[in-house]
Amino acid sequence: MIDEIKTAADDVYPEVVSLRRALHRHPELSGEEQETARRVTAWLDAYDLHVRTGVYGTGVVATLDGGRPGPTVLLRADMDALPIREETGLAFASEQDGVMHACGHDLHTSSLLGTIAILAEHREAVHGQVRACFQPHEERIPGGAPFMIDEGVLDASEGVPAPSAAFGQHVKPDLPPGTLGVRPGGFMASTDEVYVTVDGEGGHAADPHAAIDPVYVASEIVTGLQSLVSRRCPPGVPSVLTLGRFVADGATNVIPDTARLEGTFRAMDEDWRFRAHDLFRRLVHRTAEAHGATATVEVREGYPALRNDESTTALVQKAAREYVGPDRTVAADRWFAGEDFAYILQECPGTFYQLGVGSEHGLHTAQFTPDEEALRTGVGFMAYLTWRYGREHAAGG
Ligand code: NI
Repeated sequence: MIDEIKTAADDVYPEVVSLRRALHRHPELSGEEQETARRVTAWLDAYDLHVRTGVYGTGVVATLDGGRPGPTVLLRADMDALPIREETGLAFASEQDGVMHACGHDLHTSSLLGTIAILAEHREAVHGQVRACFQPHEERIPGGAPFMIDEGVLDASEGVPAPSAAFGQHVKPDLPPGTLGVRPGGFMASTDEVYVTVDGEGGHAADPHAAIDPVYVASEIVTGLQSLVSRRCPPGVPSVLTLGRFVADGATNVIPDTARLEGTFRAMDEDWRFRAHDLFRRLVHRTAEAHGATATVEVREGYPALRNDESTTALVQKAAREYVGPDRTVAADRWFAGEDFAYILQECPGTFYQLGVGSEHGLHTAQFTPDEEALRTGVGFMAYLTWRYGREHAAGG
């Protein structure tokens, strides 16, 4: 089957590339993916699938029935772009000023369409059902995935059993095309935003004793908060706290009334994540109190930590070694970016893996230029993995 799928991937590759370029030329922001959804639907129309549109706005869900009994597998691609002005100079660069596919979601979407084309062509060999989800709104909190779940993408429907595994991929600039990055267990971070306002009492800089200096208090808070990661977080639980914004608008001779801190808190473990929120609040309030100031804390919860299931990930590793070879199957590092596929993996076992695209410039930059050759692997490997999972879990199906 691996050779048939590789041949099919080569056959569909030119069409996938031209679709990817069309998507790249017409990027759409989170929640506005109408044109993208229309192109997705137009592609799916060529195959005999059950297609549902308008799922959480612009989402599209297509179900393919395999020729043999087996489980349901959920495959997911995100469709939205970023508010970045493209500077790649490519012939098919964004025509939408200030909007760019700088996170590779154009590759994710076109790749999954190519995968569906291959699976449809080899439908008789496919065990079970394949549910392909084209998801809107990944780039902005609260994300699209939780709403797709609310709309039933993880439920049984019309004779199709609920998915027993979910797979998704993300482009990775520092891995060369033709490689895949896989990591079992904790893989990507939760991404919460923290906001602190310290209210002191402004005054003349020459009379600090008559004021309550919020700059000093906020500085104590910045320093103290580092103890959360160094002293309170268990060793071996990776976690990051960065306060990237510190605003206190006094003057050389003026102590201001307030100071404001903003930052990001990321964790690989959901238990620690919520314990850290409590410790964070307590440390801020008590530090402020110790100096006669008051503080308000806001923690805006982002996506949860993403955890890959051990068993499906073992299969992804095995299938990757078979498909691209052991030397091109890379042990992925922990990745401190956030990803709303984490919500899907909270409900359904599955794996999120990396597709090497070899770009000198990173994700979310105006020069991000993935090598399209990666799509040949992206398209074919997901088809192979899906077929392989179906066959492995077909017994009694
Ligand atoms: Ni992304």
